[in-house]
Amino acid sequence: MESVSVVGLGKLGQCFAACYAKRGFRTIGVDVNAQVIESLNAGRATLVEPGLQDIIEECAGKTFFATTEHAKAIAETDVTFILVATPTDHQGNFSNEYVESALVALAQSLRASEKKHHLFVVSSTLMPTAIEQRIIPLIEEHSGRRLNDGFSVCYNPDFVALGNVVHGFLNPDFVLIGESSPEAGARVVELYERFLENKAPVFRMNIVSAEIAKVSLNTYITMKISFANTLANICEKVPGADVDSITRAIGTDKRISPYYLKGGLAYGGTCFPRDTGAFISFSKKVDNPPLLIEAVERVNQLQDENLASIVLRETHALRESKKKTNIRVGILGAAFKPGTPVIVASPAIALIDRLLHEGVEVLVYDHLATENVKQRYGERVKIASSIRECFNDSSVVVVAGADKEFQNMNESVIAHNPTTVVDCWRLNQKLSEHRGVRYLALGKPYAHSAD
Ligand SMILES: NC(=O)c1ccc[n+]([C@@H]2O[C@H](COP(=O)([O-])OP(=O)(O)OC[C@H]3O[C@@H](n4cnc5c(N)ncnc54)[C@H](O)[C@@H]3O)[C@@H](O)[C@H]2O)c1
Repeated sequence: MESVSVVGLGKLGQCFAACYAKRGFRTIGVDVNAQVIESLNAGRATLVEPGLQDIIEECAGKTFFATTEHAKAIAETDVTFILVATPTDHQGNFSNEYVESALVALAQSLRASEKKHHLFVVSSTLMPTAIEQRIIPLIEEHSGRRLNDGFSVCYNPDFVALGNVVHGFLNPDFVLIGESSPEAGARVVELYERFLENKAPVFRMNIVSAEIAKVSLNTYITMKISFANTLANICEKVPGADVDSITRAIGTDKRISPYYLKGGLAYGGTCFPRDTGAFISFSKKVDNPPLLIEAVERVNQLQDENLASIVLRETHALRESKKKTNIRVGILGAAFKPGTPVIVASPAIALIDRLLHEGVEVLVYDHLATENVKQRYGERVKIASSIRECFNDSSVVVVAGADKEFQNMNESVIAHNPTTVVDCWRLNQKLSEHRGVRYLALGKPYAHSAD
């Protein structure tokens, strides 16, 4: 049975290792977190991703073996994928800290081993030039071997999205391989041929090109999101203009495509803001003014400010008209996108922060993200257990998530009158006809109406 090892069993690595085990490879998973290792060996995944638990349950002890010992990756396999975290440092660059500590441990084991060759495949997101300038010299130093002689290196970043990681790994749109030698790249292609469920095209190139390609992809998407948001902002100011009709039409053109072309809230999450920031930082490093992408970031900040100003205007107006001091705002959806509990850099969280700062009471409903919201705010925000409760106990409700349950919500949930609804994705335009509801939609002219 062919073997591979995966170092770093977090949100991505755990799914990646599980996919290899499912596809019949003897898979060694390595992580420094002993609790994660214990749980995986007992057949329990440590995170929620569709399909993951079933695979771990089926493969643990058969094709999947987890360990805290990096040496086993070297001793029992000839190819090691590195998928540890690369957090953003204070200058917007990805930190190599964990990649380096994992590779030092692996390279030292390689030095002590008699095997002729080992292939390191770095899949963690790194700053362009990091592999040639930092990672390869580090492996050479600790293994006592030379590149493309006693070891080789490939850069093989992932483009999967949280909430769809298992399926995304097995069915990517394409595979990107930066290679230190044609033989190393060919070996990774061979593995993918047996690993993928689809026939994704493979793009092979040198390492630095692959590093630049990785940060470019998400940066292009954020540029597109900011363009759609710019269109929505323009439409808010033009009576009769309909941003969705416009994006639907122009998105049909192959040169544009419909994906990520919906005006709404700012982009957020674990990847978009940080990859965009890294692109800007790298651009400055090579002395290329990052004009275009700095504008993308600025548009994104404006999107948060635009939403906050609409919601604050509504709460102030209600406070005046009702002579009440506490107008509560309900937020439907706190995660950065539907189907995930992750609230990192979520526009809903930016809104909650601003409202709390202004002394406005906040009530949140997001059944997947409840724990993360509690952890961040403690007693400072209230948690609703249903959409109905959120409407019941708030005067202004912001539909921040584009989740199906918010799209499908029935008018009967609106038990409290009068209620102002701020619909960030124009999911429930029928509410504009509901008596007693003041309905405001981002991207629509009446987002700014003060009637
Ligand atoms: N999360 C995403 O959506 C996403 C998408 C594409 C790419 N990426 C990239 O994938 C990489 C991994 O991200 P993640 O979200 O899975 O991270 P994570 O924080 O969820 O997991 C990282 C894991 O690495 C382990 N680890 C740290 N140091 C180690 C070491 N020396 N040896 C072994 N294990 C070690 C940690 O214990 C943890 O389990 C990052 O570079 C990230 O940028 C993430």
